[in-house]
Amino acid sequence: MEKKYDDFLKKAEDIADVIKDAIKNNNGQTKIVSHLDTDGITAAGIIATTLYRAGASFQVSIIRQLEEDIMATLSKGKENVNLFIFTDLGSGQLDIVRKYLDTKKTKVVILDHHPPIGAEDGVFQLNPHLFEINGSYDVSGAGVSYFVARAIHEENKDLSALAVVGSIGDRQDKGEQGSFIGLNKNIVDDAVNAQVLEVKKDLRLFGRMTRPVHTALEYTTDPFIPSITGNRDACFKLLVELQIPLKKGDEWRSIADLTTEERTKLVSALITRSLQHGVSSDEAQSIVGNVYTLVKEKEGGILRDAREFASCLNACGRMGSAGVGVALCMGDRKRAYKDAEDVLSKYRTRLSDHISLISDNIERIVDFENVQIFDGKRLVDDRIIGTVVGLARSSNMLSSEKIVLGIALQEGEGFIKVSGRSTEKLVSKGISIGKALSDAAQGIEGVEAGGHDIAAGARVPLEKEQEYIKLVRKNIDKQFAKSESVKNVQDDG
Ligand code: C5P
Ligand code: C5P
Ligand code: ZN
Repeated sequence: MEKKYDDFLKKAEDIADVIKDAIKNNNGQTKIVSHLDTDGITAAGIIATTLYRAGASFQVSIIRQLEEDIMATLSKGKENVNLFIFTDLGSGQLDIVRKYLDTKKTKVVILDHHPPIGAEDGVFQLNPHLFEINGSYDVSGAGVSYFVARAIHEENKDLSALAVVGSIGDRQDKGEQGSFIGLNKNIVDDAVNAQVLEVKKDLRLFGRMTRPVHTALEYTTDPFIPSITGNRDACFKLLVELQIPLKKGDEWRSIADLTTEERTKLVSALITRSLQHGVSSDEAQSIVGNVYTLVKEKEGGILRDAREFASCLNACGRMGSAGVGVALCMGDRKRAYKDAEDVLSKYRTRLSDHISLISDNIERIVDFENVQIFDGKRLVDDRIIGTVVGLARSSNMLSSEKIVLGIALQEGEGFIKVSGRSTEKLVSKGISIGKALSDAAQGIEGVEAGGHDIAAGARVPLEKEQEYIKLVRKNIDKQFAKSESVKNVQDDG
């Protein structure tokens, strides 16, 4: 294993010692604070389970972001907390953490994969960026948390499956054919060895085992299949044309029920369709690739396929039911499971309503040279604006050649939420939406921003919206210009 990975794992052990030491005497509580998306919820679930197994008492808070007022609330009653563990957030808010917590009185651990901003003085931080490990593809927040859980006790190796779900939630399965790279690969190996995960090649369609084939086609957004994704009638029509029976007796057939011959026919039809619509060959081929099965989960259930599990947790977090998600990650397969099924179905309806909302409000899309902005104020909830613009882009309503920004109102608070989404192609050209949003925030009082090259966000006082967006656009234009000049030099050379 490369040295940087060794160093990272060594630091995971040091941090595990800090946690073990803090919980040894059980003389105070641990507070786990995490982000509301899939990666954040799985990270919290991994640490909560680890503490539970170690007999420690703890509390979990799932938040939309470590904003200053949220940190102020979290720090109330800190006298009774001897250990704070922040997962999937915190590195981008080191100054806020240090402002509200005295690290001489309370131990503070941050297990994150966002680019660190500020000084870590006194904070115990595990973050891939500090080891020159990529935080967008090599390891997620759940993955970072997993390595610490594993270093606390071997018994926690079964939690590797949750870490895989977290990484899929952050779309880190971007190696060849949906595989993982870097530390994520190590996690998948652990999960396979612990017999909690199976990896095989199949059609990477959503709801592979639980949904009728036509629904799986309709719901698949990654990869997006032009004229199929979101188009129920076209899905039926395609299956009829290919002479693939929809039912066996009275039961709908799922992807898992298809014969090899039927699969081959379906794959080639889908690839052809994507190519005809101008999708790149790599993207089109990615319809087939690694699928990850959590073998301990109920067959036909919503948690057996890692992608579906991830989508379910995302739904919980973004629909205000994060507690249900944490309970699922901690093993509740009764009440939380039922609640999650409900949340998931409401979330699907909500997303598809929102996609129609964008197409009904096309005038709210403002087009600039390198940026497209969708103004979703009073239309879209701030917790799902990122998912909504991401989906709108997949369905070609927003450009894939530009950075897209979604804007929503944080109702009653006097702030807007900005969600930025990029593409792998733009990232490979050196464009970073995370950097553009963070740099712009430096110059304007009251703005909090952060995130990755591919996906990032910000919270901006209402009256600063114009000024901030202008600065963000300027930063992005500069990045595009720089990447063009690098390209020209390379072409010339
Ligand atoms: O805070 P965290 O790193 O977990 O969040 C990253 C977010 O960015 C996730 O909600 C994920 O779904 C989103 N994302 C995206 N498109 C990508 C990569 C990540 O929308 N290609
Ligand atoms: O909220 P959204 O899904 O758009 O977030 C995309 C990414 O940006 C996530 O990784 C999130 O943690 C990060 N983010 C941040 N600071 C903010 C808003 C979002 O670091 N104020
Ligand atoms: Zn994350």
